[in-house]
Amino acid sequence: MEIRIEKTQTPKEKPQDETKLGFGHIFTDHMFIMDYDTGMGWHDARVVPYGDISLSPAAMVLHYGQEIFEGLKAYRTADGSIQFFRPIENFKRMNISAERLVIPEIPVEDALQALHTVVEVDKDWVPHTDGASLYIRPFIFAADPFLGVRPGDKYYFMIIMSPSGAYYSTGLEPVSIYVETKYVRAVRGGMGFTKTGGNYAASLHSQDDAHKLNYSQVLWLDGIEQKYIEEVGSMNIMFVIDGEVVTPQLQGSVLSGITRKSVLELCKKWGIKATERRISIQEVADAYDAGKLDEVFGTGTAAVVSPVGHLRWGDKVMEIGNNKIGKLTQRLYDTMTGMQYGKIPDDMGWIEKL
Ligand code: COI
Repeated sequence: MEIRIEKTQTPKEKPQDETKLGFGHIFTDHMFIMDYDTGMGWHDARVVPYGDISLSPAAMVLHYGQEIFEGLKAYRTADGSIQFFRPIENFKRMNISAERLVIPEIPVEDALQALHTVVEVDKDWVPHTDGASLYIRPFIFAADPFLGVRPGDKYYFMIIMSPSGAYYSTGLEPVSIYVETKYVRAVRGGMGFTKTGGNYAASLHSQDDAHKLNYSQVLWLDGIEQKYIEEVGSMNIMFVIDGEVVTPQLQGSVLSGITRKSVLELCKKWGIKATERRISIQEVADAYDAGKLDEVFGTGTAAVVSPVGHLRWGDKVMEIGNNKIGKLTQRLYDTMTGMQYGKIPDDMGWIEKL
């Protein structure tokens, strides 16, 4: 694929204090963009200065939400080099989302080329500080001006990038999670397994309610019986019950997280029993009452491995591990970030150098 590069004449000042980046506020100097038109396919791949885009008010994405996205990071190692964590998995998953939303797929090798090209142009934006990274957001949306409900004929694939710190303002401090019993995020047969904006829009009301009660995130239950645990929305969820790692199986309404998959693979390598199965919130509460709920943690690209300190289900508040990070959570966090920042060797074949 040929990629045209147009560099900015007015580069922005980079953040001075990389310990205060927050998440998703600052954007680099450039972005990648490529058009799709029915009859032409994907064409006109280019890296251009970062900036607003012009869109018809009738653009289909604005009305019917035909949009998908991904999230991955570029990390700077101690020797100054830059690397990605399993980026191929992101672009494979992007095509799975694309298929569900009738969006034209992008060959994985083209998406990877776009990623390498745009990060190379903005490589000085990859933070140098431990714990900070360049968060990368690829996305595709329908752009043709039309008010009828049908798949688009015109799409854009874009990649924007944001130097970021921890997703949660609390960093590695345990997060508190509210179990949602009224609303649901996704149903089987729906779009829960895709990364599409609508899934996140569906989560906002509950997130707002949870914030009012001083909980930072929402844990979703299944959309049919509202008994079985699904995911947190910004991350997958794992429980350590009596020494065994248990996480909800992927059955169509849960996102197939790359960090989730990596954690399961690490547990397998370490000889720790890790099971994907249906798990009810009642089972978690019973394990808590029996003193067997050893650890709870979330996994995600943005969230990495995040300890959960409190879980509230109705009136029941469970404090997990005295609201401190558990041993396995810490080991997983250290191993994942160790590989990502090149501090420990990648013996899983997960790292891709820029
Ligand atoms: C990610 O972890 O990359 C995501 O896309 C989740 C998002 C809520 C930040």
